[in-house]
Amino acid sequence: MWPKKRASKHVTRFSGTGEQAMQGRIFSGIQPTHGIQLGNYLGAIRNWVRLQDEYDCVYCVVDMHALTTVHDRATMAANIREVTAALLACGIDPKRSVLFNQSQVDAHAKLAWVLNCVTPLGWLNRMTQFKEKAGKNREKAPAGLFVYPVLQAADILAYKATHVPVGEDQKQHLELSRDVAGSFNNRFAEDFFPLPEPMILGDAARVMSLRDGTKKMSKSDPSDMSRINLTDDADAIANKIRKAKSDPHHGITWDVENRPEASNLLTIFAALSDRPREDVAAEYADAQFSRFKSDLADLTVEKIGPVTAEMRRLMADPGQIDACLAEGAERARAIADPVIEEVYDLVGFHRSGG
Ligand code: TYM
Repeated sequence: MWPKKRASKHVTRFSGTGEQAMQGRIFSGIQPTHGIQLGNYLGAIRNWVRLQDEYDCVYCVVDMHALTTVHDRATMAANIREVTAALLACGIDPKRSVLFNQSQVDAHAKLAWVLNCVTPLGWLNRMTQFKEKAGKNREKAPAGLFVYPVLQAADILAYKATHVPVGEDQKQHLELSRDVAGSFNNRFAEDFFPLPEPMILGDAARVMSLRDGTKKMSKSDPSDMSRINLTDDADAIANKIRKAKSDPHHGITWDVENRPEASNLLTIFAALSDRPREDVAAEYADAQFSRFKSDLADLTVEKIGPVTAEMRRLMADPGQIDACLAEGAERARAIADPVIEEVYDLVGFHRSGG
């Protein structure tokens, strides 16, 4: 047995006004696999924007995670910029929050390796996202896809984050992050890593496909009609909502079991208008789908249109996006490097000449 060493509980402050006490540190990430869809926006990013006032926030474009599926240099580079532009356009403020891409901060890869060494294979075998993504041909799935959730734990723990705002699909990965943190703490230093709390906020934590109300809206769905992309123009949005799957029932009511599509559209309406779902359901209890969809299309265009326009403006100046990411990476390193140094010391890695 190695001797246990008590670690310092010091949390570095790095942003905010300096006057106001922040409630903790937030970390969250998004993959630059494609552009951003409405589920990402309503389930995660909109909450990230709101949380900037109360927490020290670190937001990351997780390009190393995306490398498990994106194997084309130009696509990867373009996606990183597009997702960054989308985050900025949605209201992530790079002055208040740290915004960067994962590959530029070595601590993620270094910590992931250490955590791989304290994570039992059995925990990873239970991950449902791996099973879904690997599909039937598991032997051919990249090893990176299997250890993906350990890299995710490293992302969070490298910043000693206390809270992680995500959509519902990330719940299992976050439970694993807590277990991995506990596993490290048990072996090397009690209380070194805080056990991160998932924050799954609001009714839109699971936005479903427009073509099938039982399937998650996703960037990887082969049908573009299944999702609203933040790059869609007004015509595309209206067309997708008009053609969204409906059902033969009268009126619009909330009934996930029997009316998954109507319920999903109600959720989207309520989230975009910041109204309780019951309110919206009461307003459209007698309405035809055609009127409801037409109002939903107008509302979506009203809310998403300005984000799309701002994204286009930002994308016209890639140099500015790159500069923003470079500055964010520097600030991220200032937090994560001391943590990885402590980790290396705790596990007994000897430094030569340093
Ligand atoms: P990703 O890139 O798939 O999604 C980014 C965020 O969007 C949420 N989300 C949704 N929310 C509601 N309805 C939907 N249909 C929907 N689709 C996506 C996701 O829950 C997520 O919050 N593994 C993560 C990225 C990651 C990460 C991290 C997250 C890497 N490291 C550390 C948190 C902390 C992922 O693939 O998210």
